[in-house]
Amino acid sequence: MSAVVFPFKREDPDVLLKNVRTALAHPRVRRVVCVGAEEDECFATVARAAPNIARSSGKEVVVIVQERIGTKRPGKGDGMNSALRYLLTNTEHDRIHFYDADILSFSEEWIAKAEEAADQGYQVVRHYFPRASTDAMITWFITRTGFAILFPRSELPRIEQPLGGELLVTRKVAEALLADPRVQAQSDWGIDTLYTFATVAQGFSIYETYMGVGKVHKLYGSLGDLRTMLIECFEALSSLAGASVAGTTLHHVEYQGPVSEAIKAKVGYDVDATLALLAEGWTERQAELLDHFPPEVRDGLNPSRRIPRVGCMDDKAWYDTYRVLLREYQSENPEWQDLLFRLWAARVLAYTFSVALRGYDLAMHHLHQMVECYCRRAAGGS
Ligand code: LAC
Repeated sequence: MSAVVFPFKREDPDVLLKNVRTALAHPRVRRVVCVGAEEDECFATVARAAPNIARSSGKEVVVIVQERIGTKRPGKGDGMNSALRYLLTNTEHDRIHFYDADILSFSEEWIAKAEEAADQGYQVVRHYFPRASTDAMITWFITRTGFAILFPRSELPRIEQPLGGELLVTRKVAEALLADPRVQAQSDWGIDTLYTFATVAQGFSIYETYMGVGKVHKLYGSLGDLRTMLIECFEALSSLAGASVAGTTLHHVEYQGPVSEAIKAKVGYDVDATLALLAEGWTERQAELLDHFPPEVRDGLNPSRRIPRVGCMDDKAWYDTYRVLLREYQSENPEWQDLLFRLWAARVLAYTFSVALRGYDLAMHHLHQMVECYCRRAAGGS
């Protein structure tokens, strides 16, 4: 029997409670755990509603506040790890599902598809779904790029959505995650990177199931909205340099279906507002740090330009830039964090103007090819 976990923080309680009821309606699900970041108004509303929902479903609904487990900013990582701790200590469930609390398109199908893959023997089931060509910009340019550079011969760069919060793990995998000090330390947005890394590194079998309905959720404004997530995801990724990965991983990716026009036409972030961020707030120190980077990047991003230009940041320049970041970047240093943001924003804008502009199908093909090309380069040692 399975448990379902929803980590949440200041969500719309109606959306979360609807998702709780949906999860409970699936015959395999015996218990839902809502793990809140703090005891705020949303938490109180959810906690108040839980007993009635439990009674009418005849199942368990638990609402807990997350523990302080990790060493980074207290965030989603503490939430996911608290839920694992709770479930492994107090229950016997042999499968645990995680879903983000704010999914508007959540249905029993998400649970059913994960259970079907687990029934085939897979130990980890990850949901993936179509996203706009200018969405998932941390996924493509930080996580998949970083995995390609650091672990080019592994399955890590080939995980479709390594930052996805929708997944199933068997009890054995949950125990391994709980026993891994690095995973437990990652209390912030880096947790998804660490779960992905740990499951592949330990050689668990992975099935990626395709959810054509996509994940309808809150949208982003400028890339500035993603700044903290970007920094935490990069710092998590770079902390993995030198780690070892199991030789083989059984990894199956379900073939994707047709992508709706709405997703193909969607713009993932506010381009205009992001351009302004590139030009603003350079410090002298950041201008000096630019000297570490390839000349075309340093000169291209010259902070004295009033009108930013990003054309320099093509696929090759980004690979070289990323390698410098892996070598020179100092974690938790604000000047480096700011520069990382600028370099990534320049990369996202350059991709938007030169690749995404040419259409969805071409852009998605380009991104997949880019990752394969990075794997080849990294495996070849350049
Ligand atoms: C990503 C975040 C931004 O996947 O959703 O890149």
